[in-house]
Amino acid sequence: MGSESRKSRIAILISGRGSNMMALADAVRDGTISSAEIAVVISDQPSAAGLAKANERGIETLVIERSGRTRDEHDREIVTALRQRDVDLVCLAGYMRILTKDFIDAYRGRVLNIHPSLLPLFPGLDPQKQALEHGAKTSGCTVHLVDETLDGGPIIAQREVPVHEDDTVESLAARILIEEHKLYPEAVNHVLQLHQQNKWLP
Ligand code: GRF
Repeated sequence: MGSESRKSRIAILISGRGSNMMALADAVRDGTISSAEIAVVISDQPSAAGLAKANERGIETLVIERSGRTRDEHDREIVTALRQRDVDLVCLAGYMRILTKDFIDAYRGRVLNIHPSLLPLFPGLDPQKQALEHGAKTSGCTVHLVDETLDGGPIIAQREVPVHEDDTVESLAARILIEEHKLYPEAVNHVLQLHQQNKWLP
């Protein structure tokens, strides 16, 4: 991935708000993620608020809707779009769909996700609610490699966030989100550096 003269090309997949997508775009712009560019932002939801934010930033956006396509067709179209744009690294950022094996095989070791819990604790939906229901004193966020399992691929980076006694799902999610916006760019930069030095094994 990436030679000295070529910037690494990142694709970001979203389904909604896109705040992590924007944190990555900001980090590319300010150099926290070095020698990379955002090749495209792809959403499976035409109404995703993140699309307008990416457009305003001058980033190419693409909507590949789920409806009218099988899961395989949907992922095949996304992989085609990624290949057309010579994408090196795929970052899931609030992308609410499990990838098919064919997608993962096409980009094995090059798909990252961020999840708002300390995996392997609280995978899947509503991790902040799960943390509160279990009485966790600490939660946080995790950047991990995506494989065929739900939020189960190898962990790349984690950051702890305290859970307060009076936390609601919203207050805990907001506190974790602040750390997500720092952790994801740092982890992406780390992975890209390793790739560029040919030290990334997958
Ligand atoms: C984040 O909490 C992320 O960890 C999870 O979904 C949420 C997406 O938020 N996977 P945003 O769209 O990045 O604002």
